[in-house]
Amino acid sequence: MSDQPETPARPLKVAIVGAGPAGFYAAGQLLAAKGVAAEVDLFDKLPTPYGLVRFGVAPDHPKIKSVTRVYEKIAQKPGFRFFGNVEVGKDITHAELLERHHAVLYATGASHDRRLGIPGEDLPGSHPATEFVAWYNGHPEARDLEFDLSAKRAVVIGNGNVAVDVARMLGLDAGELRETDTADHAIEALIASEVEEIVMLGRRGLAQAAFTNPELRELGEMADCDIVVDPAEVALDEHSARWLERDDADVREKRNVEIATEYSTRTPEGKKRRIVLRFLASPVRILGEDRVEGIEIVRNELVADDDGWLSARPTEETEVIECGLVLRSIGYRGTKLHDVPFDDQRATIRNVGGRVIDENDDEQVPGVYTAGWIKRGPSGIIGTNKKCAQGTVDALLEDLESGQLPEPTVTEDDLPELVAERKPDHVDWSAWSRIDAHEQALGEPQGRPRVKLTRISEMVDVATAAGAVGERT
Ligand SMILES: Cc1cc2nc3c(=O)[nH]c(=O)nc-3n(C[C@H](O)[C@H](O)[C@H](O)COP(=O)(O)OP(=O)(O)OC[C@H]3O[C@@H](n4cnc5c(N)ncnc54)[C@H](O)[C@@H]3O)c2cc1C
Ligand SMILES: NC(=O)c1ccc[n+]([C@@H]2O[C@H](COP(=O)([O-])OP(=O)(O)OC[C@H]3O[C@@H](n4cnc5c(N)ncnc54)[C@H](OP(=O)(O)O)[C@@H]3O)[C@@H](O)[C@H]2O)c1
Repeated sequence: MSDQPETPARPLKVAIVGAGPAGFYAAGQLLAAKGVAAEVDLFDKLPTPYGLVRFGVAPDHPKIKSVTRVYEKIAQKPGFRFFGNVEVGKDITHAELLERHHAVLYATGASHDRRLGIPGEDLPGSHPATEFVAWYNGHPEARDLEFDLSAKRAVVIGNGNVAVDVARMLGLDAGELRETDTADHAIEALIASEVEEIVMLGRRGLAQAAFTNPELRELGEMADCDIVVDPAEVALDEHSARWLERDDADVREKRNVEIATEYSTRTPEGKKRRIVLRFLASPVRILGEDRVEGIEIVRNELVADDDGWLSARPTEETEVIECGLVLRSIGYRGTKLHDVPFDDQRATIRNVGGRVIDENDDEQVPGVYTAGWIKRGPSGIIGTNKKCAQGTVDALLEDLESGQLPEPTVTEDDLPELVAERKPDHVDWSAWSRIDAHEQALGEPQGRPRVKLTRISEMVDVATAAGAVGERT
């Protein structure tokens, strides 16, 4: 008889921390692994699962959110158990999880922002996009944030898809907003917004922008928001022209240039709002006495390094754009978890192919793994995390096969009692399903996918209305 933990009598027990896409894909892959009987305990610090699918993906993109059906199926698999509203590192420790499982897999995402490091960055009216996104999506930690939308002009810094989401959310009209699951507090504020112009700033050129074609195309299809691009902004410099002609040129970049070039030929229709795309411009400082009054930008030129990579170099030319709101969308950043080796430079958990490695000697930390944004950094779409999680799960199963996984020292299943003691208001899958049904029922009469509960106390009230907690599917 094998002494490896892989039979129904001695299942492989894995704790996964973070119920976003990476955590769910890893759970599904472990529970589907051939010849291995696995049990998965999935933890999330929030009562609600799905991570950025709930709190990141733009509310006017409901089809993308339907990926949660895949995760619901995973949650129905035998061996799955959910502990929501339980923060690992606070309510339960890494050591306590490792004592009770053969492996702990961290999929905690990257929820903080990267800093610009310029004067005025923290003036009232200058916010990271991470906070604005969390606010309009109803994240409980962003529930009480306030955004002053009384200025006529907002500036969004960055040229990624998050910057596009943020610019578009500022440009949606009441009808477009009211059919979404945008948090109610944000719908009212966005409808009352006096912002008329949203300027999106890219530090490099149009041909180097990180956003994707459908997202750029959407900016030209908004009900009451024009897209404005000065023809001079889309004229390609010699580097960009060469960049797009190279053999391995990216079709996405070529299409972006075509789409924005078409925008530059449009005459604005006089809609209520407009989104203005600007390129080759970096913020130098955010101006204002007590709050944001403007932003000083510098004109950049592109320079090529030996590998042909194009980066932005500031020229002498500066300009001030008057504005009352600045949203900094230059990327997300992971944060360190207690007792888990962290690479401060990359802001990721230290790992090789998902196996966590020690801070001092780079040796593998037995039984500890990572997947998703906290493993590889904050880039990639939802589906990217499937492959990423598979890499980690393959490594974990290889380690199981070669007898590298540590044995749990606590063998009885006391986790439900331990969690109940520490966090009496934790939420299991059936309790989450009650929150889910409640939100959908609130949304139905309004023709919306759901009305989100945005306070943890409200969620817990609905979740604990009935039912036992801590049962495995
Ligand atoms: C604004 C925005 C919009 C996006 N839109 C799209 C889109 O339209 N389409 C697309 O394909 N991709 C989109 N993405 C990308 C996609 O959301 C990410 O690729 C994906 O969510 C990353 O998955 P993850 O599991 O690594 O992290 P996350 O989704 O962030 O999940 C991490 C989970 O860990 C939990 N957690 C953190 N710390 C702890 C702890 N200590 N204890 C317990 N739980 C913890 C968090 O609560 C969270 O639920 C978007 C990203 C952003 C930021
Ligand atoms: N609809 C969707 O599919 C969707 C929606 C949202 C997010 N996502 C995905 O989620 C991931 C994260 O998106 P993201 O937009 O946060 O990141 P991103 O795609 O990495 O874009 C970051 C942007 O910030 C710019 N930037 C970085 N530092 C800067 C600085 N100091 N000054 C000025 N600009 C700076 C970058 O410019 P440089 O290129 O010059 O570095 C880039 O334009 C991406 O993979 C994205 O595709 C997908």
